[in-house]
Amino acid sequence: MRVFFAIPIPDSVREKIRAIQDMLKESYGGKYTDGDNLHITLAFIGDVDTKVIDMLTEIEINSDTIPAEFKLSLRGMDSFKDGKVTYLKVEKNAEIERLRAYLEERLSALGIPFEMRDEFCPHVTIRRGKKEMIKEESETLEINVSSFALYESKRVDGELKYVPIKTFGGNILMTTKIMKGKDAIEEGARLINSGGIVAFPTETVYGLGANALDEEATLKIFEAKGRPQDNPLIVHVASVDDIPKLVEEISEGARRVIDAFMPGPITVIMKKSDAIPNSVTAGLRNVGIRMPVNETAREFIRACGCPIAAPSANRSTRISPTSAEHVYEDMNGRIPLIIDGGASDVGIESTIIDMTRDTPTILRPGAITESMLLSVLSEVRTFQGKVISVAPAPGMKYRHYAPRCETVVASDVESAISGYDRAKEEGRDPVIVARSHEAYGDRNVIELGKSDEEVCRNIYSALHRGETEHDYIIIEDFGDGGIGDSVMNRVNKASGGKRI
Ligand code: TXA
Ligand code: MG
Repeated sequence: MRVFFAIPIPDSVREKIRAIQDMLKESYGGKYTDGDNLHITLAFIGDVDTKVIDMLTEIEINSDTIPAEFKLSLRGMDSFKDGKVTYLKVEKNAEIERLRAYLEERLSALGIPFEMRDEFCPHVTIRRGKKEMIKEESETLEINVSSFALYESKRVDGELKYVPIKTFGGNILMTTKIMKGKDAIEEGARLINSGGIVAFPTETVYGLGANALDEEATLKIFEAKGRPQDNPLIVHVASVDDIPKLVEEISEGARRVIDAFMPGPITVIMKKSDAIPNSVTAGLRNVGIRMPVNETAREFIRACGCPIAAPSANRSTRISPTSAEHVYEDMNGRIPLIIDGGASDVGIESTIIDMTRDTPTILRPGAITESMLLSVLSEVRTFQGKVISVAPAPGMKYRHYAPRCETVVASDVESAISGYDRAKEEGRDPVIVARSHEAYGDRNVIELGKSDEEVCRNIYSALHRGETEHDYIIIEDFGDGGIGDSVMNRVNKASGGKRI
């Protein structure tokens, strides 16, 4: 039996193919086979058995259902010369090459040899008597692939039929581009406006954005991150003028916070308007609004022409990214584009303040501290306040920011040193994350810098480095008060509360 990989063609492309078919039908008459699928033909050598189906099932489990971006250029050839037939060709591109390599690897691991035919036929096939004719056509079609199907080809009453065996998600084909500057912003805006998702820099951490007014687009964020859908997204704007239509009202207090701290590392929770779909707020009546100060972020949002819903651009439970490289490490193959704006200045997520409560309440500490907020509000419930445990930000119940290796907080220099030495004796490869290496002799230390701003800016990249280069991370306790609270909030999550 022959097995085909088929990429179901979206309506827009199908229309084009139909138009070609009609044209051909008119000029030649006769029967033609309809082409709803681009067939990437995989000729399995030998019988296809359940192993293949198992492999595809495995792909299905491991893959996301986010659409892959496909650019296939159709190179046509007028082949009906002297009765000779050629198919319209789809030029192979990097994505297809990637599919080939992927399948080769997976199939050979299963002991199944395979061939991938070079031509991909969008089945614009005209039949006239026994001959097939193909009309020349040259065009670039962009295809958003959201799924693949495994087809079996069968002859039914002399006609070739493709019978679907199995359908699965298409993200295995996605390559993630990293771009900079004006081109990046244009490409990012184009993707957002066609319902896609894009990672972009902000001064806090990198975000993974979608059009906040497009429910379907925002759902792709949850898929790409593996984020539970009951955890709401923050909505980013390029200007404070864009806020009123997103919220029911801006209270006097909210107005003061906005005026004082936007643009900047703060998210203000207000009552949402009907413009915001439920997918963004996870069904809550409130929405978090943020206006980044990062210029690239704002240019990007402005170019999109819509508010951008964005969580941090990491997979759920992983460390938030503060550089394009961090995003790439975590999200390669899951998103089409990362806009590279360099390292994030602030380095930890925005302060979240809920302005819908009687007492404005900090749901997540950040670089805008409670004392800064108190300069414009008469009272603030701090993150440590008891109210927090009653109604925390929904995200607080998930273990966030977790490095891949064991991570602990050391109460003081002595316990950091003894923890380090013990780990060393056990044959592990520990590292200490500290403001400075000074107290630690020649032990491995990732230095953050002495000022609070430096600690904030560098903490996530230190955790990224720690998990990549070592297998045990010991983090200095940065104490409390001001930014210390904000950093320790992340550090305690990274360690799951484990102390030595
Ligand atoms: O700095 C930041 O805020 C970054 C950048 C990209 O802007 N974004 C970010 O998003 O950190 P995320 O999704 O990783 O964290 C947002 C947190 C989550 O814990 C979520 O539960 C909470 O904000 N949140 C969002 N909307 C909320 C709402 N309407 N009510 C309560 N909490 C909300
Ligand atoms: Mg996050």
